[in-house]
Amino acid sequence: MPDVRAGNYLAIRNSLEEKTGIPFTCYNEDFLQRHIAARLESLGMSAEKYRSFIDENAEEAERFSECLTVNYTGFFRDAGKYKALRENVLGEIVRNNMRRKTLSLWSAGCAAGEEPYSVVMSLMEGLGVERAGWRMDMLATDVNGALLERARSGVYPASQVLKSRLASTIFRKYFESLEQTSDGAGVPSFRVAGEVRERVQFRRHNLLRDPFPTAVDLILCRNVMIYMKGEHVNVLVEKFHEALKDGGYLVLGNYEALDHTFIPLFERLKVSGEYFYRKIPTGSVLQKAMSQRKTLIVDSLSRVQLKDQ
Ligand SMILES: C[S@@+](CC[C@H](N)C(=O)[O-])C[C@H]1O[C@@H](n2cnc3c(N)ncnc32)[C@H](O)[C@@H]1O
Repeated sequence: MPDVRAGNYLAIRNSLEEKTGIPFTCYNEDFLQRHIAARLESLGMSAEKYRSFIDENAEEAERFSECLTVNYTGFFRDAGKYKALRENVLGEIVRNNMRRKTLSLWSAGCAAGEEPYSVVMSLMEGLGVERAGWRMDMLATDVNGALLERARSGVYPASQVLKSRLASTIFRKYFESLEQTSDGAGVPSFRVAGEVRERVQFRRHNLLRDPFPTAVDLILCRNVMIYMKGEHVNVLVEKFHEALKDGGYLVLGNYEALDHTFIPLFERLKVSGEYFYRKIPTGSVLQKAMSQRKTLIVDSLSRVQLKDQ
């Protein structure tokens, strides 16, 4: 691996930051160094050479940021989470919005779109025939423009879709097979059905820089903050709290958890074996009690009790 420590590393990082507007200082140092080293190796360049290469090639900083933003994802990734969402959380969100019949959802760090599409499919399944009367606004954002292009098309290679082991009902209802060319050339692929695609709005958005939406019922930010430094994660979590409606949900990746400093902001609920965070309204009795370090006990019907620690 090429050596990218000290001066070269800082100069490369600053230059990439300046050119893309992505504050790379917010990402874990090890993570960033490994990516710079990997990029040097794939280009066969020394760190010094790479510094001038970034300055001379306008598109390099953008290309680097695309490989930096790890974008592994998939339809219904972490099946248990979607099961719990479908069977409990989404039902609660729907009940809370019965009057307006409008749902506001946000997939922050949506990569190539599989996550927001999966949530919309889950909701459509849950609502069944009633779905026609509901408005679902799914905002799906990512810092990586190339991924968003793919996401908007809704077209995925067949191998990738089949790997997701989708339930046959979901697969039959929400995916259409694309015709191959008459000579059989081209990669077999599937497109997400129009009634799902039309409910998702993809937008380029940098979580570390751009303003957040407001009055959201459900935010998914899974496997995104895992690469960022703790102090920046804290800022983002506070902003997610502000962005949510009272009682709205924040969903993190399976290897992510909020630390105890967020106890007055979110209740951590275990639903069908999966963890979800529900916003505690700012200034509520519950929030005050929790800031006084009482223990919160939530039973299976989501009834809340406070006990002295
Ligand atoms: C590993 S993918 C997660 C995709 C999906 N949420 C999931 O869990 O399957 C991480 C995504 O976060 C995006 N990302 C990283 N930093 C970001 C930032 N500052 N603002 C917005 N998106 C970011 C990356 O571009 C990437 O698509």
